[in-house]
Amino acid sequence: MTSEGTPDPEPRDSTPPPGYDAATTIDTSVAHVARVYDYWLGGKDNFAADRLAGDQAIQAYPDIVYSVRANRAFLARTVRYLAREAGIRQFLDIGTGIPTANNTHEVAQSAAPGSSVVYVDNDPVVLTHARALLVSGEQGHTSYIDADLRDTGRILAEAARTLDFSRPVAIMLMAILQHIDDAEDPYAIVGALLAAVPSGSYLVISHPAADLAAQQMAQMAERLNKLMAEKVTFRTEPQVARFFEGLDLVEPGIVRVQQWRPDTEMEAKSPGALWGGMGRKA
Ligand SMILES: C[S@@+](CC[C@H](N)C(=O)[O-])C[C@H]1O[C@@H](n2cnc3c(N)ncnc32)[C@H](O)[C@@H]1O
Repeated sequence: MTSEGTPDPEPRDSTPPPGYDAATTIDTSVAHVARVYDYWLGGKDNFAADRLAGDQAIQAYPDIVYSVRANRAFLARTVRYLAREAGIRQFLDIGTGIPTANNTHEVAQSAAPGSSVVYVDNDPVVLTHARALLVSGEQGHTSYIDADLRDTGRILAEAARTLDFSRPVAIMLMAILQHIDDAEDPYAIVGALLAAVPSGSYLVISHPAADLAAQQMAQMAERLNKLMAEKVTFRTEPQVARFFEGLDLVEPGIVRVQQWRPDTEMEAKSPGALWGGMGRKA
């Protein structure tokens, strides 16, 4: 045990799991959000430093494990809604994450075969999975861009090889904007992405909340900011609502992710502290 009463870190394991490209440089000594998130979801693409940060977060806010599952379920429901009910056939998913169940291209292309999906992430472990994600075929086209969300010019230029920006696009920013602090102006970043897509396009955001389970979330943020490479800024409901300014909010508006068109009552009641919403560009 450490002086704070938390478990000692496990010995550092730096051996990449089977299937990893030996040429890819992966820093296993510091926690990275893609791998911490994978740990919370029960995945295998994580290392001791990620598990330590993940466990510290769980101690501060035990419901984080339900929160991340509720976030994945929100992603699947929003993509299904966009493909089935809004007629969207193009998706720009920034902050892909390590592949897990119900990835955007799987949900979109099973609901609307022929849909195109462009993924963007800046994590080398996600990059090692990109080949598996790049399954283009009869189901639709899928591609991957290794880029930072802050570099909107490059993302849009490279995405234009796959997506037709004269037709509606759904911009998916799921659990990523918390890694852009206020000084980096996340609103301008989202504004630049929205300016590039035509009327009839959609924006979908999920964002860890600063005003739900506030004390626990603040403690979790403090711990993650000590241990994780990517720092976090959690935001309140009005701060998340600001990302949708000028868009028409799709019902039920900005709500806890588990309450956005849940499939079951039980799903709606599951714990979780992320705000989620969808807006349409008029
Ligand atoms: C918490 S995970 C969310 C994954 C997925 N979007 C989901 O909701 O299930 C955040 C992802 O965003 C990526 N990410 C964080 N900051 C980023 C940045 N500035 N540019 C690109 N990707 C980033 C991380 O590498 C990670 O894969």
